[in-house]
Amino acid sequence: MATASSPAISASVLPLERHEHWSSRLLFILAAAGSAVGLGNIWKFPYIAGEHGGGAFVLIYLVCIALIGVPVMMAEVLIGRRGGQSPIHSVRILAAKENRAAFWQIVGWIGCVGSFLILSFYSVIAGWALIYVSYAFNGVFDTLASDSAKDAQSIGNLFSGLLAAPGTLVTAHTLFIIMTVMIVARGVKAGLEQAVRIMMPGLLLLLIILVGYSALATGKFGQAVAFLFQVDFSALNWRGVLVALGHAFFSLSLGLGVMVAYGSYLPRHISIAKASVTVSILDTFVALLAGLAIFPVVFAHGLEPAAGPGLIFVTLPIAFGDMPGGLIVGTLFFILLVLAALTSAISLLEPTVEYLTEHRGIKRLWATLGAGMVVWLLGIASALAFNLWSGFTVLGNNIFDALDFLTANIMLPLGGLLVALFAGWVMSRSSIQEELEMGNTVGFRLWRFVLRYITPVGVMIVFLYNLT
Ligand code: PHE
Repeated sequence: MATASSPAISASVLPLERHEHWSSRLLFILAAAGSAVGLGNIWKFPYIAGEHGGGAFVLIYLVCIALIGVPVMMAEVLIGRRGGQSPIHSVRILAAKENRAAFWQIVGWIGCVGSFLILSFYSVIAGWALIYVSYAFNGVFDTLASDSAKDAQSIGNLFSGLLAAPGTLVTAHTLFIIMTVMIVARGVKAGLEQAVRIMMPGLLLLLIILVGYSALATGKFGQAVAFLFQVDFSALNWRGVLVALGHAFFSLSLGLGVMVAYGSYLPRHISIAKASVTVSILDTFVALLAGLAIFPVVFAHGLEPAAGPGLIFVTLPIAFGDMPGGLIVGTLFFILLVLAALTSAISLLEPTVEYLTEHRGIKRLWATLGAGMVVWLLGIASALAFNLWSGFTVLGNNIFDALDFLTANIMLPLGGLLVALFAGWVMSRSSIQEELEMGNTVGFRLWRFVLRYITPVGVMIVFLYNLT
């Protein structure tokens, strides 16, 4: 890591007056968990676990969360709190303090580009959830799922009909981007802090109700538990390991500087280690609950676990159509899914807006509108990838799949790798120790060892195996 040129600290990297701070430890945890818990947990985790054979994939995913995710999250938050600015500038200022090259701000730039790309397709999926709110509310699932012999098929047709309607997809995507832009433009605090307070407990409660339904009403709970937790390594290849690693970053919102930005609002006295562990446990818990809610329905109705991105949209409506009170539970569920997506979407836009306002002098409203516009345009390509542009492929994938692969499986692990190298090798041990406030405990030494050696080597190995 010998990039030891001595860049002069230019005026633009001098510490700003520190930002506002989160109102409390709980609100930081809720906001960070709001960013982490999103479509990744409820929409993506079950379908990729299904595509990669279940148990072994889940195990590798959990190992990646514990060994790579948690340490990298601590590193991001501590970089943010110490730098006190947008990700690009926090890294720049910390690198300058250690007399290292400005090269490291590349971490922030990968984050800007990556978060735009992710938000562009994320918004299209959130758009599906928005449309499903209206389906659920209008009793569409009740009608379609009334004939149990045909329910799975007609619910499946409902979904494929939606994918074939470019106008509807683009409209829903547009609505979701407008919602995101409106919140970010106003400033995060008032709207966001309030929203996460209600959303997180509400989402948890509904997921538990769904798991209850799956456990009691489908008769396939045992099969689902076996599918998710019985480890069979023959069902997993190196591509699956890469997807598990990429998803650990995706699900915890790592590798893009999101947690650096959120860390920059973190008051001093809060323990970074405890907060990171809490957020990671919450995030993992929600993903596992989603799996336990969905797979019993999949097996009970002879559906395909590897059905791909439509999995929750073709399984949960069957449960809602079947259960008493399904209209209310279904409507609430999709509303909460949209909200969960919204608190993640906001976190994807915030670091770039923070950068544009603080360092480019652009007014918050214009910065948000401009960024939102770019993301909206990019997102149209993902919406059309399911219909008009489905013939357009990159290395055999449609635009949506290609963007998903590029961001989650390449950009995020790469961003995370750079964060680990930066915190592990560039920042001095003393400044890190001061920030983590853990002293020279075993925990601290273990964390630093993992960050310096295990994380980088682990990511490199997975990358290399996927190149060959
Ligand atoms: N963690 C979010 C989810 O699971 C997605 C996300 C990724 C948000 C990266 C911010 C940064 O849905």
